[in-house]
Amino acid sequence: MTTLSLKTDPKAAAGRIPMIQTGQALMSLRDSGYDLSAAIAEVVDNSIEANANTITIELIEGAGKEKVSAIAFVDDGAGMDFETLHNYLVMGFSTRWMRTDTIGKYGVGAKLAALNFAKHIQVWSRQASETAWRYVGFDLEACIKAEEDGEENPFGIDEPVERAPPPEVAKYVPKGSGTIVLWSSVDRLDHGRWAANLNLLLVEVQKDISRTFREFIDGGIAITINDQRLLAHDPLFQMTGTWADEVLTKADSEKPKGGGHNHYPALVITDREPIHVKGGGKAYLTVTLYPEQVTRRRGSGGDELARRLRVPDNEGAVSFMRSRREIAYTNVPRIFPRGVQEADRFIGIEVAFTPELDEFFGVRNVKRGVEPHGELRDKIRARLAVHVSAARKLLDNRWGKAARAAQTHSGEHAAITEAVKTVEATLPKSPPQPGDDKKRRDAYERLAKDTGHDKPDEKEEYIKRISDLPFVVESVDFPGKMFIEVEVINRQVIIRLNTRHRFYQELWKPLHELGTMDPGAVSGDDAVKASRRAVEGLSLMIMAFGKAMSMDEKGPGAYDDLTTYWGQFIDTLMGKVKGVV
Ligand SMILES: Nc1ncnc2c1ncn2[C@@H]1O[C@H](COP(=O)(O)OP(=O)(O)O)[C@@H](O)[C@H]1O
Ligand SMILES: [Mg+2]
Repeated sequence: MTTLSLKTDPKAAAGRIPMIQTGQALMSLRDSGYDLSAAIAEVVDNSIEANANTITIELIEGAGKEKVSAIAFVDDGAGMDFETLHNYLVMGFSTRWMRTDTIGKYGVGAKLAALNFAKHIQVWSRQASETAWRYVGFDLEACIKAEEDGEENPFGIDEPVERAPPPEVAKYVPKGSGTIVLWSSVDRLDHGRWAANLNLLLVEVQKDISRTFREFIDGGIAITINDQRLLAHDPLFQMTGTWADEVLTKADSEKPKGGGHNHYPALVITDREPIHVKGGGKAYLTVTLYPEQVTRRRGSGGDELARRLRVPDNEGAVSFMRSRREIAYTNVPRIFPRGVQEADRFIGIEVAFTPELDEFFGVRNVKRGVEPHGELRDKIRARLAVHVSAARKLLDNRWGKAARAAQTHSGEHAAITEAVKTVEATLPKSPPQPGDDKKRRDAYERLAKDTGHDKPDEKEEYIKRISDLPFVVESVDFPGKMFIEVEVINRQVIIRLNTRHRFYQELWKPLHELGTMDPGAVSGDDAVKASRRAVEGLSLMIMAFGKAMSMDEKGPGAYDDLTTYWGQFIDTLMGKVKGVV
């Protein structure tokens, strides 16, 4: 209507220019800040809202295998009528504009997400098996060229036409209704940009999508990415049959009889605790502590199993769920009591809310970068002060117990010698010392005996455990004033620490015992006394070291190598091994 009146009123039209310069605006909108998973999630959102049961996604590599050149999406949802399909590619068009009972509401998701990675968007849809597939498309480059050529309405969208689905997705095309979206002329997914290769890229995307849509996957919706049917990834470890359940079942010696997965539930600290917001809206807070099979021992939060379980990703992360769909899994600055700690990676935190609260959460059209504001944020912080502290305390107790249990059969230095194993590779190699298998075996047998591994199977298990460690350290009882005894076989360093020695008795042992206690059970007085004696003991040990060197006729210079290496190794080891004890 406006354009009509402009045309009929030349005075009004004079000097009036269009508010949007379509070609350039579209090019700029290509940088809306979607990451690949978030962009893919936009299309999945639409499929879910169309009541799809099966959603198939395929990242297609270019002929040279140097990049992803196209991404295809197929769903078996309700499909679109002529009008809706025609408008699918229209920026701002939505059949649910600004509604609060839907996932989408801005009418820009499908196009912005596509344009962030691709320049050509094609869509096929139908609403019943007996109707033909209809098609619309938008090719940014062709449109820009048309504009340069002075064509009229270069950015227009042609009416849908009947067209068969593309060959790329032939095997996934639903028998009944559904929608197919194909992004091509993808120019932002060269390998090396987001991930080194297709497999690594898929791992990342599968990880994000399985978390983002966990409620829907858990509810039975099948999402498949490059032939991998996704299991829900629940960062709270509450759902059953999840990715974590699968990984843990594989690692478990006890498998369920009828096949499938065991379930390893988290400990619930608080469950859907309402957080009231002015105006009557509600958010719900859930906090969990990961199961013992995951928390295991102190220091295991970064190992192979932890990484497979996606534990490191969870450090300080809060999962924000809007209408059952995750819109952010992120660190919120200063919301954890006393800052984020490494152990917090074992604490699951979810804040769920309905779209009425979008403003409080700073929800944006790109469905990213959520951050609770003002009053809401203060309330969440206050609740986390209680629950995160409780979870940390429980975890501390659990780890204390695990450490005491482990000690009884595997020695007090087991955790640290295990941890050093991964660092050893980066240290300079010592010259191999002579020693054959027999000598080695004898040394192990002696050590097994000294450490009380007397029963044959215990002995073998012990020897097996220590045989591939670069360092073996054992506290053993031997007479005399010697504090440590070092033996090297091939390159393995075996150290015996004398438990009768005063340094062990007055410094090591009390500190070690304090370290395994429940923090609540230690008096401040004890802790201060122990640390003072520790500082004393360390200073005296250094003095004794200097004095021992001075006893050599050749003078301390004879030990230059030793002191240099020693200093260097202390630095490297302390730099790389942290939080194990
Ligand atoms: N897979 C699909 N199945 C059916 N309808 C769809 C599908 N994808 C998109 N649509 C329709 O296209 C419209 C535009 O999608 P989009 O740009 O993502 O906006 P929004 O989701 O915010 O409404 C939607 O409102 C919906 O009507
Ligand atoms: Mg949408």
